[in-house]
Amino acid sequence: MKVLKNYWELGSVVSDIVEHTLTLPEPKLVLPTGSTPISLYKELVNRDLDWSTTTTFNLDEYVDNTIQDQSYRYFMMENLFKHTNMYDDNIYFPGDTAVWPDLSYGTGVDLCILGIGGNGHIAFNEPGSSFDSETRMVDLTEETIKDNSRFFPTIDDVPTQAVTMGLKPIMSSKKIVLIANGKHKLNILNVAMNGEQTESVPASILQSHKNVEIYYCD
Ligand code: GLP
Repeated sequence: MKVLKNYWELGSVVSDIVEHTLTLPEPKLVLPTGSTPISLYKELVNRDLDWSTTTTFNLDEYVDNTIQDQSYRYFMMENLFKHTNMYDDNIYFPGDTAVWPDLSYGTGVDLCILGIGGNGHIAFNEPGSSFDSETRMVDLTEETIKDNSRFFPTIDDVPTQAVTMGLKPIMSSKKIVLIANGKHKLNILNVAMNGEQTESVPASILQSHKNVEIYYCD
């Protein structure tokens, strides 16, 4: 795990990795939402990179068509996509297709950037998710609904279901970068990276990936 000086350095260091990936022919990226990647997206926008041949897959999306400006599509449009020369047709969210499980979602990915939930979830693969899980619809745990209520007027407004990229396709990415911000993430990072590999801690699956980097700042 690399410990960085602050949140802005986190954005800058991970931007270097994204910038390098964008020089590949037809790069494919998996991208996260949440509060952690905001400094990354701000820095990427500042760098004014060429995204014209890039395809992106988002990690997850709520199942609730009433939330509009709290949807992860809206978050990504506002924080990154609308400031780049990405083609709309190259932007994918799980749930765009009605096929369950969606086996084609996020294949051939060069770089997957992940956050980590307080209970060790990655994307919305909650504790108990199979290490073989595919992209699918899931119920959110009470803990996750509570964590994410900070983005909604009340806890009753938080969607209870989402579509998430599965652990299996996440693990098929050539490179994975996990980002975490805040002391409250240290314990779960330690459990995920150094504890037993178990489906009770979804992020512990990353111990089996050959090309994972973890960046943390408090
Ligand atoms: C949500 C997302 C996850 C994200 C997590 C952490 O639950 N589905 O993909 O990693 O939040 O968010 P934050 O960066 O705000 O701590």
